[in-house]
Formats: sequence, C-alpha cells, structure tokens
Amino acid sequence: MTTIPPLPTALQTRAHEIGRRYPRDFVWGAATAAPQIEGSTDADGRTPSIWDTFARVPGAVADGDTLDHADEHYFRWRDDIALMSELGLDAYRFSIAWPRIVPTVDSPANRSGLDFYDRLVDELLSRGIEPFATLYHWDLPQWQQDRGGWADRSVAHRFAEYATRVAERLGDRVHKWMTLNEPWVYVFLGHLDGVHAPGIRSEEHAVRAMHHSLLAHGLGTQALRAVLPSDGRIGIALSMSPAEPATPTPHDGAAADRFDLYRNWLFLHPIMRGEYHPGTSELFRAEIPIEDGDLDVISHPIDFVGINYYSRGVVRADDSIPVMRARETPPPGVVTAMGWEVHPQGIADIIAQTHERYAPAAIYVTENGSAWDDEVTDEGAVFDTGRVDYLTAHLTAAATCLEGGIPLRGYFAWSLLDNFEWAEGYRKRFGIVHVDYPTQRRTVKQSGAVYRSVALAHETEV
Ligand code: FCB
Repeated sequence: MTTIPPLPTALQTRAHEIGRRYPRDFVWGAATAAPQIEGSTDADGRTPSIWDTFARVPGAVADGDTLDHADEHYFRWRDDIALMSELGLDAYRFSIAWPRIVPTVDSPANRSGLDFYDRLVDELLSRGIEPFATLYHWDLPQWQQDRGGWADRSVAHRFAEYATRVAERLGDRVHKWMTLNEPWVYVFLGHLDGVHAPGIRSEEHAVRAMHHSLLAHGLGTQALRAVLPSDGRIGIALSMSPAEPATPTPHDGAAADRFDLYRNWLFLHPIMRGEYHPGTSELFRAEIPIEDGDLDVISHPIDFVGINYYSRGVVRADDSIPVMRARETPPPGVVTAMGWEVHPQGIADIIAQTHERYAPAAIYVTENGSAWDDEVTDEGAVFDTGRVDYLTAHLTAAATCLEGGIPLRGYFAWSLLDNFEWAEGYRKRFGIVHVDYPTQRRTVKQSGAVYRSVALAHETEV
C-alpha cells in the first residue's frame, strides 16, 4: 500500500490556498490512456493496435520500448483505484481500448473486453470517483489500419458502431464521455510527420484522416446520444497551444496565425460552427473529402470541450515546413524534460480564447502536466520540485478564468501514473505517482501530495 508523503507547511498552505480559489463542486481528476498504462496487450482476446505495430518498427520508439507491460494496469486496476482514492480524486479520465472491444472487423463485441471496463467503472463508483471515458486515445485496431486506417471513410462508421457497443454496456453508469483524444496529434504526427503511429508521411493521407476523424466524432456523438440517458454529457479532448510570433514582423505574425488555426481551431471550428474555418483551405494543398451532409453530422451538438494544455508556441515563418509554414523557436526560460516551455499564462489564455470564440456550455482541462527527470531517494521519496511548481503555477493561472465567469468545471492532471509516453517510450515521466517499471511499485511523488491538498482544500483546515 502506498502512502501520501508529508508536505512542508509552506507547500501545504500554498496548495490549500489554490484549492480554495475553486468552487466546492469543481471536479479534480487525473487522466490516463489505455495503451499507455494497461499492458496485457494480448489478454482476453485483444488484438494489436497501430501502436503495437509501430512500436516494433526499429527506431520508432525510444529504447525500443513497447506497450506489452506498461503499468500492468490491466491487472493492477483495483490498487490503482485505491490510490486515486488516497489522492482525494473526484474523477478519473481513462480511455477504452477499441481492439479489446472489437478484436476483428466483423466480430461481435468482445465480452471479456467490456467486462474489464465494467469492473473498473463499478470500482470507481464504489469509491465515489466519477468515470470520464474517452473512446479513442490513439489505439486504432490494426485491422482497421489494414483497411486504410483513418484515411478510409469506413473508419467513421466503425467508430460509431464501437461507440454504441461501449455505451450500451457502460452508459447507465458513465455520464461523461469524450469521443476522441487530440485528433490533431494522431492525424498530423501520425500521417504527415510520421513520428507517431501509423508512421505515414503524406499530406493527402493526413487531410483524409482529419476529415474522417471529424466525421467519426460526429457519428460517435450521435451514437452515444441514441444510447445514453438524458444526463449523459458528451465532449472531445483537444490539444491546444496558444501562439505567439517570435518577432513583430508581419511575416511572423502570419505564421503565428497559421499555427493558431492549425493547432487550436482546425477541429473545434467545424464541430462548433458546422463549417471548416475559412483559413483551412490556405493550409492544405490536398482536397478535403467532404460529402453531402458531413458538416451537419460533425456539428451535432456537444456538451463540453476538453482542453489538453502543455505549452505555447513561439513561432517564426518558415516555408520549408509543410502545411503550417511556421517553425517553433527554442523557447525562452524554463523547459521540461520534453523541451516544452513552462508557460502557465498559456492555460488561462487558451481557455479564455475557447470561451470567447465558441462559448461551449462547459470546459474541462482534460490534460495538463509536465515531464521531469525524477529521482527516487534512498528513503523512497520523489521530490519533483519542477512538477510541483508547474502544477501550482498552472492551477493559479487557470483560477483567473473562474473569476472571469468562464464555465470551467474541472481539471485532470496528466498523468496519474508514469507511463508509455508514445515515441519517447518510458523515458519521460509525467506521473504524479512514480512507477518503478521492473517491480511495478507505485510511489506518490511530492506533486501527488500537493495535488491531494488542492483537491481536498474545502474539506480540510490548515
Ligand atoms: C498528450 C497525450 C497524452 C500524453 C501527453 C503528454 O498529447 O494526449 O497521451 O502523452 O500528451
């Protein structure tokens, strides 16, 4: 059993003051994703995802790491939920592995796959932790990739069928749903830059994958609505990164505008407005495969927008970069182990911009966090000062949004556990809980204790 490390009084007070700036019913959560934590990649009928395949391409993932074991969450889930409870969490954002639920193109729903999430949800609820389920966090079944992946329109219909199967089983108990996680990342890093699965480098593929992701979101939303009770709430989690020009020249100003559209509004605009943003046609040479009625489906109303925020982009014009024709400059100031700038104001800026542009009924920060080169002391403690500073500074900045009347309803720390960080493998640690991979031992970091104090601020006196 893990324990929460004691905090120095100054840190305890700081955490408490931050927590008190948020309303009592604010949702404090932590997030993970199936392929990053579950392991057991061939258990109970699961078939490979595109990340299982990609991780086996030599050089694709740092140190040749694979998803095979990860955090062994597939059989340690009960202890992990006990840990969430110790951390005082109100909610847990997890993803469901599509290849566990639909192992082959024509198979019926896989009972044992569904059983896993069923038990997970029941255990969460028994601990008073609200489940927030994401249907797609990048683990496309390999069988769909073999049929053209996201570039083939069939994916959107298959996603909707999968959504129906999951909602029929869990919809009586899970009230918060996200269709897709960060389509910008898997579409463009996966199909244009080729550094994520499926490792394709083609603008045409990327543009097709973009449109079919939007369509999958829309059809998935409709499918969920048809099954969920009236208190079901549906959203999407989008990566966002406010843009700033590196210099005041018009050239760099235009580059920052392109970055802003590409990274922040490319997906959200059609969802909220029923049309592609007018600037979209200037980004791409490839044609978007829109068919009649698609935009009505894509803009089927949603209930909340999830923002995943890590850093901003300071950019300059560079015509050699495809699509965006802009390059991120080395950030000034402190950077994390990912090389991402620590820029707390950015979280408040991007929440405010989302609210001003589209006014969704609710906004959640569905991911925010940082990677650092953590060390475990001989006494078994992790003093992750960089992460503590990052966390407290971002929560302090985000609180200003509430004071401005924005409907920010919750915050999810990325991540509950150190885990498989995609192309970076297990090298980069984002957890508020440390995982020693050989022993699978969990150790709550100092940031985890700070987060607990924030989350419980209304329940405790300092
Ligand atoms: C986001 C992903 C998440 C995690 C963090 C660091 O882009 O959604 O899975 O890897 O970055």
